[in-house]
Amino acid sequence: LPETAEVRDDHLFIGGVDMVELARKEGTALYVFDEADLRHRMEAYREAFRSRYENSDIIYASKAFLNKEVARIAEAEGLCLDVSGGGELACARSVDFPMERVFVHGNNKTPRELEEAISAGVGRIVLDSRIELARVNEIAGRLGVVQDVYMRITPGVEADTHEYIRTGCEDSKFGFTMREDFAFKCVGDVLAAENVRLAGLHCHIGSQIFALHSFREAAAVMVEFMARIRDTYGHEITELDLGGGLGIAYLAEHQPSSIDDFAEVTCSAVRDLCALHNLPLPRLLVEPGRSLVAPAGVTLYTVGILKTLPGIRKYVAIDGGMSDNIRTALYHADYEPTIANKAGQPREEIVTLCGKHCESGDAVVIDMPLQKADLGDIVCVFGTGAYNMTMASNYNGQPRPAVVFVRDGASRVVTRRETYEDLYQRDL
Ligand code: LLP
Repeated sequence: LPETAEVRDDHLFIGGVDMVELARKEGTALYVFDEADLRHRMEAYREAFRSRYENSDIIYASKAFLNKEVARIAEAEGLCLDVSGGGELACARSVDFPMERVFVHGNNKTPRELEEAISAGVGRIVLDSRIELARVNEIAGRLGVVQDVYMRITPGVEADTHEYIRTGCEDSKFGFTMREDFAFKCVGDVLAAENVRLAGLHCHIGSQIFALHSFREAAAVMVEFMARIRDTYGHEITELDLGGGLGIAYLAEHQPSSIDDFAEVTCSAVRDLCALHNLPLPRLLVEPGRSLVAPAGVTLYTVGILKTLPGIRKYVAIDGGMSDNIRTALYHADYEPTIANKAGQPREEIVTLCGKHCESGDAVVIDMPLQKADLGDIVCVFGTGAYNMTMASNYNGQPRPAVVFVRDGASRVVTRRETYEDLYQRDL
């Protein structure tokens, strides 16, 4: 639940705002964010790491949820920003996000994106391959700059999560593989390239991870790699980015690790391992997305159709679906819904919240308990703050929802709802 969620007279309030009134005012489907929750998570991350490891920074993985306002908030909260392409970079530039705090990711950044990033003066480019090294070196040379880079290493750690969002294992499209010592040999190429400076190493083992030992294992591989680089190439790696991936509770029964536990494990692992290898402590970075924004966000819908198939299932059809939340169709994601105008009542029916799209797989919540639904009820689905808005589509010509921030009893639209004109305005 968002931090400020509470029930007053059967209505769900977030940030002191009645979700039923908000839905009526702004329309549904609607993405709503608890701004206090969002800011407190950013502060909690900074504090959890800074208090344990002075030379540390938090990079917000903007792919989880990005618009201008969240970029401004991340900036104000002192975070760095992970952009995974030219579009996210353009958003960062549009709000004057300090470019030295921008990290550029992606396994196939186009030459144009690389040129945009380097000429904008981004802090670090995370090299994903040897082909990309050549491109970055060439562009930086042409622009007359020396670009700070990291190398993304595939540490061979199998994180315990859905296979589509598991990225650190051997068979991965991401990063330099350690097989046959390929990554290690490529370090020599990066060091020899004139227009880049190898500042650090990066890894990212996956997303929605509950078991912290995977992060410790990744840290061990990375620090050992740093020691080999020092021993063989005589080069000191001064920055280590351990990626994102901390999981959150989508269901009440989920027991994710806390931000503090995550910080404790990663900071102490890096500290211990560096001591073991007699390495100076690098600047330590992590790149959370989901655990920064998912719990702060909810989606509101209006119930439009009810359909009961006796002995099979009860469908509650809402005015959104896979266009605003593809995660259920894609990953069988779990969510808990409530009816915002009946929030104090027990959830006694098992229902499927299906969407309005032309596919049977279009559901946001499958077989979960809900209060008895009536037409016109406002349904709230929790935990939709990450990878919902950014993965939204216009399937079936559905305009994408507005994004509203709520705080201290007030609401403000930070991204307006798409219009029909928006939908086809690019057509010639
Ligand atoms: N760093 C890199 C290089 C990443 O690829 C990602 C996520 C993150 C950081 C942030 O990971 P997080 O803290 O959010 O777990 N669409 C999927 C999630 C894909 C994650 C992609 N990379 C979903 O909806 O579950």
